[in-house]
Amino acid sequence: MSEIAKLELNGKLYELPIIEGSENEKGIDISKLRSTTNGYITIDPGFKNTGSTKSGITYLDGENGILRYRGYPIEQLAEKASFLEVSFLIIYGDLPTKTELDSFKESITNHTLVHEDMKQFFEAYPAKAHPMGVLASMVCSLSTFYPESLDHNRTPEAKDLTIHRLIAKLPTLAAWSYKNAMRHPFMYPNNNFDYCENFLHMMFAMPTSEYKTDSTIVSALNKLLILHADHEQNCSTSTVRIVGSSHANLYASVSAGISALWGPLHGGANQAVIEMLNQIADDGGDVDKWVAKAKDKNDTFRLMGFGHRVYKNFDPRATIIKKACDDVLNKLGVKDPLLEIAKKLEKVALEDEYFKARNLYPNVDFYSGIIYKAINIPTEMFTVMFALGRLPGWIAQWKEMIQNDEPIGRPRQIYNGKNHRDYIPVEKR
Ligand code: SDX
Repeated sequence: MSEIAKLELNGKLYELPIIEGSENEKGIDISKLRSTTNGYITIDPGFKNTGSTKSGITYLDGENGILRYRGYPIEQLAEKASFLEVSFLIIYGDLPTKTELDSFKESITNHTLVHEDMKQFFEAYPAKAHPMGVLASMVCSLSTFYPESLDHNRTPEAKDLTIHRLIAKLPTLAAWSYKNAMRHPFMYPNNNFDYCENFLHMMFAMPTSEYKTDSTIVSALNKLLILHADHEQNCSTSTVRIVGSSHANLYASVSAGISALWGPLHGGANQAVIEMLNQIADDGGDVDKWVAKAKDKNDTFRLMGFGHRVYKNFDPRATIIKKACDDVLNKLGVKDPLLEIAKKLEKVALEDEYFKARNLYPNVDFYSGIIYKAINIPTEMFTVMFALGRLPGWIAQWKEMIQNDEPIGRPRQIYNGKNHRDYIPVEKR
C-alpha cells in the first residue's frame, strides 16, 4: 500500500499521497491541496523544499556528493566520454551507438554556421558588452531565422533539427561574442575539427595564424563541458522549463536560461571567484581576513564558489575540477598564484566552524575559473563556458517537459498588500 501524509486543518484530516522516485526520494503530492482544503496553498521562497517535476535526466544526492546523468556517474563520463556523446545521452536518454554518434556529430558539424545577417547584430554591440548579454540575445534571435521553430506541434524530426542547430551554433555565437569584444575578425567554424577544437579555433585563431590544437587544452575543455552538462532543477534549468511551459520555442527558452545563469549566485559565480581571488591577491593574500569577512553578517562579502543549495557535502564536480587544475597547469607549465590562494582559502574555510556548521563546501565554480584562465579563456567568458556546457541539460529538460505535456508554470501567492480602498481624486489626496 502506498504511503500517505496526513494533514489536520481546522479539525479536518486530509490525506496527501506520497510519491517515491527510482532512488527512493519521496515527495508529498500537493497538486490537489488548494481544491480539497478550500483554498490552502503551501509557500516556500526559493523552492528550497518544493519539487517542480519528476525527471529522469539527472540524479544528485547532495548529502553523499553523488551526480549521475541518466544513471551514469559523472566521474566515468568525465574520464571516458566526449562532450557530444554525453550531450546525446542527456538529450536522448542512452549512450549512442557508433552509428548514432557519427550521425549526431555529422548533423552538428553541418549546422555550425550562423546566418551571415547575424554578424550585423554583433557589430552593433559596444566593445565592452558582456558576452552573456550578447549570447542571450543572439540565441533568442535564432528563432527569427528559423520561424518553423515556433511551431509547437512540429514533427520529432523537425524538433531534432532545432536541437541540433542550437548545439551546433552556440559555440560559434559564443566565440564571435568574444571576437566582437576584442574587435578581432570573426573566425568561421572549421568542419575538420571536433566540437571543442572548433570552439578553440573560433576563439583564438586569426586570419593570419592558425590555432594550434593542444590535446591537454582540448581534453580539459571536454571534461569541463561534461561536468557542467546538467544539474537537475537548478535556477537556470527551472527558468528554461517554466518559459518552455508556455510553449515558447526552444531558442527563447534557452535564452531565458542564459540570462538566469548570468547571476553571480549561479553560473556567474565562476567569474566572481576569479575576481574575488584577484581581490585577495591584490590585498596581500590574507585569506583569514577574507574568511572573516565572509562570516560577518554586516559584511556583504560572500566566499564565491562556496556553498550550494543541494550539496551539503563536497560538490563531486569540484573534486574532479580541483584535480584537473593541477594536471592541466602542470602539463601547460603554468604557475598560477590564484590556485595557491584558492587552496589556502578552501583549507581555512573547511576548518572553520561557520562553514562546517552550514555545510559550505567548494562548488563547481570554485576551481573551474583557474583552468579556464590557464587555457586563455578571458574572465568575462567564464559564464559563457558554463552555458556551453549546460546547453544539453537545458535542451533535455525542455524536451522532457514538452514530452510530458506538463501544464504552464504558474505559482500561487499569499497577498499581503493593502485591503480594499476607493479611488480619491488627486485634488483631495
Ligand atoms: C551553481 O543549484 C545548482 O545546481 C546550481 C549549480 C548548477 O550546476 O546549476 O550547481 C551551479 O550555481 C553553484 C553555486 C554558485 N554560487 C556561488 O558560489 C555563490 C556563493 N554561494 C552562495 O551565495 C550560496 O551558497 C548559494 C546561492 C549557492 C546557495 O544559497 P542558499 O541555498 O539559498 O543558502 P543560503 O544563502 O540561505 O545560505 C545558508 C547560510 C546563510 O547563513 P545563515 O543565514 O544561516 O547564518 O549559509 C551562508 C548564508 O549566509 N552562506 C554563505 C555562503 N553561502 C551560504 N556564507 C558565506 N559565503 C558563502 N558562499
